[in-house]
Amino acid sequence: MGLPLYVSRNGVLIPPSQASVPIFNSALYGAFGVYESMQVANGVVFEQGAHLVRLARSAGILELPLPASLATFERWIAEVLAVNAAPDCTLRLFVVGAENGGEVTAFIWPQPTVAYPPALYAHGAPAITFEGQRFLPEAKSLNTLVSFLSRRRAHAIGAHEALLHHGGAFTEGSNSNLFAVIEGIVLTPPAEAVLSGVTRDVLFSLAAENDVALREARLAVRDLPRWDECFITSSTRHIMPITTIDGRPVGDGEVGPLTRRLMALFEAYFAQATAREASVLRR
Ligand code: PDD
Repeated sequence: MGLPLYVSRNGVLIPPSQASVPIFNSALYGAFGVYESMQVANGVVFEQGAHLVRLARSAGILELPLPASLATFERWIAEVLAVNAAPDCTLRLFVVGAENGGEVTAFIWPQPTVAYPPALYAHGAPAITFEGQRFLPEAKSLNTLVSFLSRRRAHAIGAHEALLHHGGAFTEGSNSNLFAVIEGIVLTPPAEAVLSGVTRDVLFSLAAENDVALREARLAVRDLPRWDECFITSSTRHIMPITTIDGRPVGDGEVGPLTRRLMALFEAYFAQATAREASVLRR
């Protein structure tokens, strides 16, 4: 699957060549819009409900009226997945605002799932630190310049992700949530300062069910040498270990035991939630 056959624009299925935003829409310059990226496996959209609730929350923070109810979004998603015959993909959903009563437009389309190199999971990925902060961090808005620039810097030097910090504390990855393990406790920056990731939320439930100590806490940059383990989470990556930061090893530089345990718990949960039977049950 390269380009999709069809893109959904407010529920109307159009060819990708017509899926465009007019340059005259000044909302574009303000990045006045919100988006979601969801994983689809066996025809099941993983945690679709949570993604759509977050879409509504992000839109609310921007005071951007969504063009349809969440139930209608669910229908549009099902339609675009069916017409593209895309049971396994990353589903992109963009809601682009408009100034002063213009039409708010939702675009939904499938794209190939990113297959990250298995070595990043087996041995861990390299990350860099980057000073900066997303504007309105609780919203998944189209204003992602700091993410874009920080990730570009990371990729330029062969690192996988950039870990954002400001005011002396880490917040999140450029497009992921950040976790550190210190003395057997998994810590992640408080939800007020970051995007509350769907993967992050699932991890909180799994940790609680499996007696893993996981808490929100300020992650001071100066405490980096105390980190025993580190990992990031996102819909496309699931849980990915980070074993070097700015060229220095995290802990002993190996993927740590708590990271491995959470990876296994998450993969089991994902497999169960997206099993073929789940797809049949939901039809
Ligand atoms: N990004 N923090 C930021 C800034 C993100 O952009 C993302 C997701 C996350 C993780 O959220 P979730 O677990 O719900 O995917 C955290 C997606 C993958 C993207 O940019 O396409």
